[in-house]
Amino acid sequence: MKTVIINGSPRKNWNTARILKEARKGAEAAGYETTYVDLYDLKYTGCRSCLACKRRGIDEPCKCHIKDDLTPILESIYQADHLIIGSPIYFDQPTGEVRSLLERVCFPPLSYNDYSSLFRGKVDVTVFLTMNTPIEAYEQQLKTAMEAYFWPFRFLNGKVKIIPICDTLQTDDYSRFEMKSFDEKHKRAVHEQDFPGALSRAFEIGKREK
Ligand SMILES: Cc1cc2nc3c(=O)[nH]c(=O)nc-3n(C[C@H](O)[C@H](O)[C@H](O)COP(=O)(O)O)c2cc1C
Repeated sequence: MKTVIINGSPRKNWNTARILKEARKGAEAAGYETTYVDLYDLKYTGCRSCLACKRRGIDEPCKCHIKDDLTPILESIYQADHLIIGSPIYFDQPTGEVRSLLERVCFPPLSYNDYSSLFRGKVDVTVFLTMNTPIEAYEQQLKTAMEAYFWPFRFLNGKVKIIPICDTLQTDDYSRFEMKSFDEKHKRAVHEQDFPGALSRAFEIGKREK
């Protein structure tokens, strides 16, 4: 049983990464083999529309033919039971690196004959999104958009679950930056109250116990 964990934040030890590392601990506690990837360390692009994955008569239809740092990661993802992606929200969207990953993972399994999936396996996908936005605003303004954004992962034939982690602490010391629109006291209070619960939830999701 395999879990692939992808950090789509440029920061390796902040909100998104901390959540993902806890999910990895959970997966390891449950005996999953885990692969953890910091996307920002890799050199890769999104889909290049080469259509090599759609050529007639190819042996392996569900394969991306681009060769770059993402190539081995895509292979691990197609062999996994659980794919866990974490991304900060940047300007109301996941990071561009996560978008490029999505294109590369989801285009090869898409059949242009009938829009079914050519993928023969099943990978459940969990996406953790971290953001400044409070949960109420996420529910009202972003939730539906994020469900639409991540729908292509349905081509992996499993469940797609999105978990928002809201009102995150963006820095350890707000006084060092021009950030007057944030109330540091409020941010810290929310962080202390909510973040431990988010970490525990990530652990349980990594473990995949009901
Ligand atoms: C370029 C940039 C754009 C951002 N845009 C948003 C945004 O539109 N909405 C939001 O809620 N937070 C936004 N944020 C805040 C981050 O989503 C938030 O701090 C997140 O938890 C950072 O994740 P990290 O700690 O793993 O890096 C932005 C941060 C950056 C650096």
